[in-house]
Amino acid sequence: MIAVVTGASSGIGEATARRLAAEPGARLVLVARREERLRALAEEIGGATVVAVDLTDADAPARVRAAVEREHGGRLDLLVNNAGASWNAPFGEGGWENVRRTMALNFDAQVRLTEALLPLLRASAPSAIVNVASTAGRVGRAGGGAYSASKFAFTGWTDSLHLEEQVHGVHVGLVMPGFVATEGFPQTMLVERSLTRWAVSRPERVAEAILDAGPGGRAERYVPRAYWLAALLRIAAPGLVRRATQRGANRLLMRRG
Ligand SMILES: NC(=O)c1ccc[n+]([C@@H]2O[C@H](COP(=O)([O-])OP(=O)(O)OC[C@H]3O[C@@H](n4cnc5c(N)ncnc54)[C@H](OP(=O)(O)O)[C@@H]3O)[C@@H](O)[C@H]2O)c1
Repeated sequence: MIAVVTGASSGIGEATARRLAAEPGARLVLVARREERLRALAEEIGGATVVAVDLTDADAPARVRAAVEREHGGRLDLLVNNAGASWNAPFGEGGWENVRRTMALNFDAQVRLTEALLPLLRASAPSAIVNVASTAGRVGRAGGGAYSASKFAFTGWTDSLHLEEQVHGVHVGLVMPGFVATEGFPQTMLVERSLTRWAVSRPERVAEAILDAGPGGRAERYVPRAYWLAALLRIAAPGLVRRATQRGANRLLMRRG
């Protein structure tokens, strides 16, 4: 199996690379900006191709595609679109600029990379794409508007892509993590309180879900699984969800004065 994993230099992407490397015959292409991290990981897992690139750069998709063509003759069995970040700020503070930069990484970069690699995935079918979105792509929270916008967009686009690519033999899976303690998303407030610590997952659990939603063929996985309830309640009981999330919003706004 030839797999491209974006955001492989830390957190969920790194855990996914380690997990995929344990699969028989797996050969990986690791993508992120921090080259040293990727090289160290590649060495640890017994070799991998490293593409150190900012995925928001105009030539990033072509550089990843060129690496797959050079190293693997264009064969590609799995693309894991995982790279992403969040810059939390209420809209009144972050404004459009915060929405723009979040969309550029969490949505546009994923779509552009997929466009560049789709011909290889189709030619290698049966193959798979796994898009790592978020439960924030189903439920919005105060301060996370830009992030939610990008993940709602990514989720909606993934739903359509899933339907379109089936006929080409490219399975498209969606993974919706809840709270996962990583470098970019330390979840400090939840981890510090014994009452809420249980709600925080580990990147390795998301990595298992990514395998389930890719080669395993599932269309959608929440991590932890029970988080599908948040998506259900947002539709079935929007008032309840709004009251619960308003409490968090009030705390955030009080802290910011
Ligand atoms: N942790 C959570 O609670 C959580 C919950 C729901 C969804 N998610 C999603 O899961 C994915 C992975 O997040 P994580 O928690 O593993 O965070 P993380 O540890 O911060 O990892 C983010 C990865 O994305 C890469 N990245 C960031 N900006 C990039 C850019 N411009 N170009 C290329 N690569 C870039 C980073 O590498 P470099 O810095 O080396 O470029 C890093 O490898 C994200 O899409 C995130 O939205 C996370």
